[in-house]
Parts: sequence; C-alpha cells; structure tokens
Amino acid sequence: MYIKINEATNYIKTQYHGKIDLAIILGSGLGPLADEIENPIELDYRDIPHFPISNLIGHAGKLIIGTLENKTVIAMKGRFHYYEGNDMDIVTLPIRVFKRLGIDNLILTNACGGIREDLNPGQIMLIKDHIGLFAPSPLRGPNLDEFGPRFKDMSEVYNRKLGKLAHQVADDNNISLKDGVYAFFKGPMYETPAEILAYRALGADAVGMSTVPEAIVARHCDMKTLGISLITNKAAGLSNQELNHQEVVEAANKAEKDLVTLVKGIIKNW
Ligand code: HPA
Repeated sequence: MYIKINEATNYIKTQYHGKIDLAIILGSGLGPLADEIENPIELDYRDIPHFPISNLIGHAGKLIIGTLENKTVIAMKGRFHYYEGNDMDIVTLPIRVFKRLGIDNLILTNACGGIREDLNPGQIMLIKDHIGLFAPSPLRGPNLDEFGPRFKDMSEVYNRKLGKLAHQVADDNNISLKDGVYAFFKGPMYETPAEILAYRALGADAVGMSTVPEAIVARHCDMKTLGISLITNKAAGLSNQELNHQEVVEAANKAEKDLVTLVKGIIKNW
C-alpha cells in the first residue's frame, strides 16, 4: 500500500509543486463546483499511478488543483466506489495521497437518499455522524503506522467546529442546512424498502454509497473532515417513485447553486 500511495503522490508532485490547503471530493452531479476553481491544473485519473478509471454517468475522472476563495485546493471530480469493484484500500487511496501531499483539511460531499421525514430532495445535510456497519473496514489488514494507530477513536469523525462554521455560513446565506446521520450502503442497487426501515430503526437519517470509507481513513490520519450531503430523493419505499440515477443527477444539479455558495463560504472562513 505504501508503494501505491507514494507513487500516486509523487506523480502529483511532479505536476504541482506548491502547498495545498484543502481537498474536496465532489459527489454525483456536484462536479460543477470544480468549475469555480481558478487557474486550474487538471490531472486525468488515467495518468495517476494506481488510480482506477471511473466511467459512471455524472462522475468524471479528474483531479483539479487551483485556487478557491484564496486557498489552494485539490478537488476530486469523480470518486472511487466500492460498488465498482474497488477494494476499500483503493476506494480510500486518494485520502492517503492527500495526506502524503501534506493536506490536513478535507470536505467530502455526496448525493444521497433521505430517510428522515424532513430530509426531502434538494435539502442539504451536514453529516454529524455515520453508520458503516455493513461494509468492510478500510482499515482492515496490516495497519499503516505512518498514518495512524491500529485502534483509532471514531467518536468525532466529522469535525464539530467545522460543522458550526458550516451552519454559520448557511445562516448568513439563507441556506437551509440540517444535521443528520449518514448510513453507508454497498450498492450498486438501491436499497429495498425493508432495508430503509431497518436503517431508520438503527438511527440513520440518510443513505448513500460513498463517503464513509473515506471519512474513516481521513480520521485515522487525523485530517479535519467536514461531510456535506445533498438529498436527491426520498429513500426507497418512502415515496411512490422508483429510484433512478438520472433523477439523482438532475436533483443534484438543481441544488448546485446553494451547495457552491455554502462550500465556498466554508472554505473562505476555514
Ligand atoms: N440510496 C443510496 N444511494 C443514493 C441514493 C439512495 O436513495 N440517492 C443517491 N444516492
């Protein structure tokens, strides 16, 4: 794993030499945030050692380095999902590469299904905590001691101070932001209604197919992490509509403006 992490990191370093303040992973349909990055350098995943190539609609495969709100950021347009067949160490490879690049600040975004009654399509949710019980741990296997300890505390995966900042920015811009617990589902099929009821009973407010493995690995190496979800649909069985990926992408695109305002405000005041 160290070899993979180092080879990917070294390639990025040959393309960009400066210090990077913050990394952002952009979820389904949330890619347009990347267009706001000034003086961008774009790196194709195809050219980065050990990065898999992502083909899904709504996910491009690029790393973009540039300036946003006077900070140097690196954005992942398109992430690596477990459902694509990637093992968890590849799903989370970019997080460790970011850490090796000297980055300690991370924003994870995603599109997800709303379970709690007040989490409807278009709503933005701050991830307060997560449920990752039903997926293999990305920290399974030999511990990478250079990144963190074998048994890591997970009581504050998502930084509370940054959560407060997110609420402040949301209030200042009249954007509705609600806290919630995000539950990981392996996918690629959507959940059954019975699975959603089970998740609700466990305390989940929203459900999606990403973010949790990345957040665990970020916490392992003490990166300050903020998680922002966009609710794109009611979870299975909670509305009379069938779920389809195109609708998820369309709902995400509609709420893009508020999300861009929110993320830019957070970065400005980070
Ligand atoms: N379930 C899982 N993942 C998702 C959903 C959902 O309802 N919506 C967007 N991503």
